[in-house]
Amino acid sequence: MTKRYAIVLAAGQGTRMKSKLYKVLHPVMGHPMIEHVIRAVKSAGIDEIVTIVGHGAKEVKTFIGEESQFALQEEQLGTGHAVIQAEKLLKGKQGTTLVVCGDTPLLQQQTFQELFEYHETSNAKATILTTKMPDPTGYGRVVRNKSNHVERIVEHKDATEEEKKITEINTGTFCFDNEALFDALTGLSNDNAQGEYYLTDVIEIMKQKGQEVGAHLIADVDETLGINDRVALAQAEKIMKKRINVNHMKNGVTIIDPDNTYIHPEVEIEPDVTIYPGTILKGKSVIKSDAQIGPNSEITNCEIGEGTVVKQSVAADSRIGARVNIGPFAHIRPQSDIGDHVKIGNFMEIKKAKLGDHSKFSHLSYIGDAHVGSNVNIGCGTITVNYDGKNKYLTTIEDDAFIGCNSNLVAPVTVGKGSYVAAGSTITKDVPADALSIARTRQSNKEGYATKLKNRKKD
Ligand code: UD1
Ligand code: CA
Repeated sequence: MTKRYAIVLAAGQGTRMKSKLYKVLHPVMGHPMIEHVIRAVKSAGIDEIVTIVGHGAKEVKTFIGEESQFALQEEQLGTGHAVIQAEKLLKGKQGTTLVVCGDTPLLQQQTFQELFEYHETSNAKATILTTKMPDPTGYGRVVRNKSNHVERIVEHKDATEEEKKITEINTGTFCFDNEALFDALTGLSNDNAQGEYYLTDVIEIMKQKGQEVGAHLIADVDETLGINDRVALAQAEKIMKKRINVNHMKNGVTIIDPDNTYIHPEVEIEPDVTIYPGTILKGKSVIKSDAQIGPNSEITNCEIGEGTVVKQSVAADSRIGARVNIGPFAHIRPQSDIGDHVKIGNFMEIKKAKLGDHSKFSHLSYIGDAHVGSNVNIGCGTITVNYDGKNKYLTTIEDDAFIGCNSNLVAPVTVGKGSYVAAGSTITKDVPADALSIARTRQSNKEGYATKLKNRKKD
């Protein structure tokens, strides 16, 4: 089989983004656009990937890691100049080379595969992936001759008024015969509107050598969007969001308002989950069947069990069991591990806490650095006092304990199995199992004293 290589162009600054962040690191649905590109390229069965880095080389390399080799383009003299940087790694090798821009994150593996197949079954030394854009402004146009064969690509800035009317555009993705590519690159000049060495000129050079050049036109314009500014970034977000949501809906997930639901690519959702508007599911979250998420909830890297309901809440890096009720307005912070049938009501904050089955945290409490058993009832306003300004300490609340409202549990402390803590207590010492602990001053009533005070004020 023909060897397959890929060159990913990612050295540009992305001036039109007007950003501190290098263009290819701008996220689309939570992942830097370069990550989407590399993932799609990789899954198309490539033997070697070379990413061209320049601006932000260090950051870009860190993101991509082991997935690719790298070549440095010290000065950004154009897309053709960028490809030349891969010479040391690829020149002289036999096979097909895919060239793709790091700013086209919507291209899918299947499209790359089809492009390879189209190219490899033709005699062409280059095949351009093209599409017809209703508004082609900014893109390179594909110029064809009278017999409809591709002649060359002309950049928007270099195009005549007549050429600007062409709607077939260069998506920035090509398949090349690897040897012919590096051969043609030696003929580039920068005699154009931008003073750059354009990769697109390779097409004309090949034609002049009498080599065959082709184009593979795809119908899905959305896939080929190149992100040069924040307007296109928002478009990409929208397109990818829709693509992901449609997939989940086809797999049996109910999404009440797909335009207002953001599910990042790595999230797994089982059938019969319902997602309400304003929900963002991020990272490697897993949502089990019959769960209901939202409205207005943000879930990051969480496992959420069967039939669990999360309303108007935020949860991150935690495991949440089955048939749990969360919210409205709860905050589950990282490293929490919540059992089954737990209730976490309004204005609750849970942090790094293990909560046993059937326990209830109904309102207005902070439970942090805690181990709570099962069937525990936590009264409104309970606080685990976990921090002394320097260190964090553990609060342990054993099974069947009952914590009265507005209690402070000053850690490290253990509240024993089946015990009661009276409302308003500040617990500083362990409570034995089955005990009642009261830690507050006794009430004293001074008869008639209020009236006396009021009369004094009148004088
Ligand atoms: C490019 C194409 C254009 C095509 C469009 C598709 C050229 C000359 N133009 O234009 O025909 O329609 O993509 O989206 O190829 N880069 C480098 N080094 C450089 C310059 C660019 O690595 O010196 C990288 C950028 O980081 C980017 C990619 O190449 O990822 C494309 O560059 P960009 O400046 O966005 O090209 P366009 O003007 O969009
Ligand atoms: Ca671009």
